[in-house]
Amino acid sequence: MIHPVRIAPSILAADFAHLGDQVRAAEAAGADMIHVDVMDGRFVPPITIGPLVVESLRAVTSLPLDVHLMIIEPERQIDAFAAAGAHTITVHVETCPHLDRTVHQIKQGGARAGVTLNPATSVETLRAVLPEVDQVLVMSVNPGWGGQPFIPASLEKLKAIRGMLDTIGSQAALEVDGGIQEKTAGPAVAAGADLLVAGSAIFNDRESVAAAMTRLRTSIERAGPA
Ligand code: DX5
Ligand code: ZN
Repeated sequence: MIHPVRIAPSILAADFAHLGDQVRAAEAAGADMIHVDVMDGRFVPPITIGPLVVESLRAVTSLPLDVHLMIIEPERQIDAFAAAGAHTITVHVETCPHLDRTVHQIKQGGARAGVTLNPATSVETLRAVLPEVDQVLVMSVNPGWGGQPFIPASLEKLKAIRGMLDTIGSQAALEVDGGIQEKTAGPAVAAGADLLVAGSAIFNDRESVAAAMTRLRTSIERAGPA
């Protein structure tokens, strides 16, 4: 099956003093979603942003907000992010002892439900909830920071999950996050990803957001159909 490839720039790499402008630039450059990295200083060392920023972003873009929760006890915060306007809320299986309940909580809040797993976490941890989820995110770096190199073993994981989704007839998006740039985007798509998160490849000092988006899209097209 051919899946159109969407790109979700991650604002983690953006200039937070000009966040609205950066998000508008990404939208103008053809971004499909805006990826919002939420870190709590516990599950991962850095602290980033909360629902207030999601609410502010909601007002400056019509793009869906793809909220990636890298926080412990996400069930305590899901309703606030949903109310703030998150389109998709993704939780880490490592933080959810009651993953099935948490997935339903996200949906009851009115958001699409996403699940993700760290590079060292087995795909089996999410098999049971796959029929319920709208999005699966494969972390291709250890979460916490932008600008890290893509972990090659992520490609096998993408293939495995694409196979699991196809087997059950799921239309869930298969997202990949970490180290996505010109060289890794094509292989990730070939392995089954249809939603690419890109932070430092889109927001950087070397080029405009528009030029960066064009470069990434061109690399995917050159790599050919999945
Ligand atoms: C990492 C975050 C990513 C990050 C990706 O923990 O989840 O979304 O922004 O950054 P790049 O694309 O620079 O690897
Ligand atoms: Zn992320």
